[in-house]
Amino acid sequence: MTPPRGVLPLPESFGWREGGLAVEGKSLSDLAERFGTPLYVTSEGRIRSNARRLRTAFRSRWPAHRVLYAVKANSNPAIVRLLRDEGCGADCSSPSEIRIARSAGVPATEILYTAAYPSEEELGGALDAGVAINLDDPDLLPRLLRIGHPTTLSFRLNPGRTDAGPEGLRFAGRGSKFGASLPRALKGYREARAAGITELGLHTMPGSNVLSAEHFGRVGAFLGKAVRAVRRVTGQTPRFADAGGGLGVPYRSTERPLDLDDAAARLTTALRREGEPTDGLELWNEPGRYLVADSTVLICRVTHVKEGSPPIVGTDAGMQTLLRPALYGAYHEIYPVAGYGKGPGRAVTLTGPICENTDILGRGRRLPSLAPGDLLAVGTAGAYGFSMASQYNTRPRPAEVLVGSRGARVIRTRETYDDLLRSVPAREMGVVAE
Ligand SMILES: Cc1ncc(COP(=O)(O)O)c(C=O)c1O
Repeated sequence: MTPPRGVLPLPESFGWREGGLAVEGKSLSDLAERFGTPLYVTSEGRIRSNARRLRTAFRSRWPAHRVLYAVKANSNPAIVRLLRDEGCGADCSSPSEIRIARSAGVPATEILYTAAYPSEEELGGALDAGVAINLDDPDLLPRLLRIGHPTTLSFRLNPGRTDAGPEGLRFAGRGSKFGASLPRALKGYREARAAGITELGLHTMPGSNVLSAEHFGRVGAFLGKAVRAVRRVTGQTPRFADAGGGLGVPYRSTERPLDLDDAAARLTTALRREGEPTDGLELWNEPGRYLVADSTVLICRVTHVKEGSPPIVGTDAGMQTLLRPALYGAYHEIYPVAGYGKGPGRAVTLTGPICENTDILGRGRRLPSLAPGDLLAVGTAGAYGFSMASQYNTRPRPAEVLVGSRGARVIRTRETYDDLLRSVPAREMGVVAE
């Protein structure tokens, strides 16, 4: 069965089997019965194929290429291990992400720590871990050097403009909290060189979920110019230029998928042209979304249908399970797990159980008639899905299941009431009134 027109098709790991939606041949209804809902279900095969496509596109054009998985997209250790198995390093944004990457087998030399506004304690932890450090601001350098000397250092450059993705995700440009202008960063490169740090890199991250290949050409040109400027002030070609994340995926049927080969060709051509000579320069990418977003669906169960105009369908997943719609107005396709009926269905609003009016999963979604107990699958939920889940309204976070070569296995158990209160001292707990 194929979804009706106007509905985003699912990647090849998913499909309708005996009338119901399945992942890698496993029925989502069976998984919901076995593991409960809400439930994040991830396809191992899709993550592997995303990683291989990405590696081929860049390595064929820039042999000294490295993929650092942006762990923040989904920091489940099983996912980080899977991507390590596909040869990825790690882009980490917190001390815990560094620990997860290290225990997934990523060597310190393949980890870049990019912290926004880090404390000295965090900088010290990164130095102790021996990972490369990417500073957001050159004024952080003297503070870092008072603690210790990193082997590898880069600065996050803000090119002064952004190509925000479909949801307006902004990572650069005027007024952005991230990065330093090139002239400001050059001061940092001079000081780093004077302090004896020889392994220097450049980093930029001017947009997220970008679907136009042209954007990556602009990133390559900016990095190339920056490579030349850094060479001028330090007398050496930096070790790496890191183009950040930002490779987008379609969330709705009207969005055209990114032409990855075109993006890689534009980025590498512009970097070579503007940065020459680039011999010995490594190119790094830090994709999060591209690797994991479309590997995962979030299964949820209908709890109630409130008739009205429009009808409002309540589910057991809300903004505490998947925050993106409430946070950015992000669109996620929503599929009936039992499949599309023959009729045209009706347009409904989908909501969760949270006491906020922004707790909306989608509006105007044309779905078959739904009743309490029916299952829905929210698409493209693998990036910034579980990792942004919260316990708001004192609700336990959902379970995660990975489906692949070892069958369907739980990679994170569903939280319990006890988990919610684990950090409250027993003396504060009181007793249940009789
Ligand atoms: C520094 C950095 N690198 C990489 C990423 C991953 O971005 P994406 O998921 O768009 O690939 C992010 C996202 O926030 C980021 O801040």
